[in-house]
Amino acid sequence: MYLSLIAAALADSSVRTLSQQEELPLLRDHLLRLDRTSRRDRFHGFMDDSFIERYAEKCADDGTVIIAFFENGVVRGAAELHPPDQSRDSLPEIAFSVESSVRRRGVGSILFRKLITEARAKGYKSLRITTGAQNDAMRALAAKFGAKLVFRHGESTGTIDLTKYGEAELARSWTESTLSGMRTVVAFNRAYWRMLLRMAGAAPPERGAS
Ligand SMILES: CC(C)(COP(=O)(O)OP(=O)(O)OC[C@H]1O[C@@H](n2cnc3c(N)ncnc32)[C@H](O)[C@@H]1OP(=O)(O)O)[C@@H](O)C(=O)NCCC(=O)NCCS
Repeated sequence: MYLSLIAAALADSSVRTLSQQEELPLLRDHLLRLDRTSRRDRFHGFMDDSFIERYAEKCADDGTVIIAFFENGVVRGAAELHPPDQSRDSLPEIAFSVESSVRRRGVGSILFRKLITEARAKGYKSLRITTGAQNDAMRALAAKFGAKLVFRHGESTGTIDLTKYGEAELARSWTESTLSGMRTVVAFNRAYWRMLLRMAGAAPPERGAS
């Protein structure tokens, strides 16, 4: 028990694009770890394991870029950049998933920024995002990056204009976001350490605790 708390406090994290060979096993296992509500939000209602397995296979096959957030060697978050199809008005589609154990620590924002950098490097001018109308977390994340979502057929859909992101702005935002992510992780870890020390009787009880 103490060892797992210490391991959590010392969690090691990084963000990088997966190689094509990594995509199938790492993306699949991450998506399979999503709980029911997250699966519903991520896949618009499709939730069974076999659907997720087929989905990961398709991503590994069709040129989808996966940017992954690793914690202690395990993928806990992913940003997906799907290439446009052949039709004239098709746009690259994006999607995000962060496991509940690491949510609201800036992981989604860090993945979003990295995805914008990758998309610009590929020469894309805009991206499309679609999410459930009730998905407040994804709507908040998308709004942070300038997506204007409109409600259509029970879903919120919108585009992100990549031409308005300057290199300097992205570099600055990336540093700020990484720092803020790190601060969040440090704050999170500090809480763990305080709890650990309290359990060991080496720190005063929380204010207000009896
Ligand atoms: C949507 C999701 C990727 C967000 O990931 P995350 O790592 O928690 O995001 P962040 O911590 O970077 O938060 C981004 C912003 O959204 C806000 N936010 C996050 N969760 C929220 C919630 N439940 N309600 C309202 N706002 C929320 C944060 O406050 C933050 O805004 P701020 O920087 O101005 O404070 C995550 O909740 C998820 O994976 N959900 C399940 C799958 C899903 O719905 N995918 C979307 C389909 S494409």
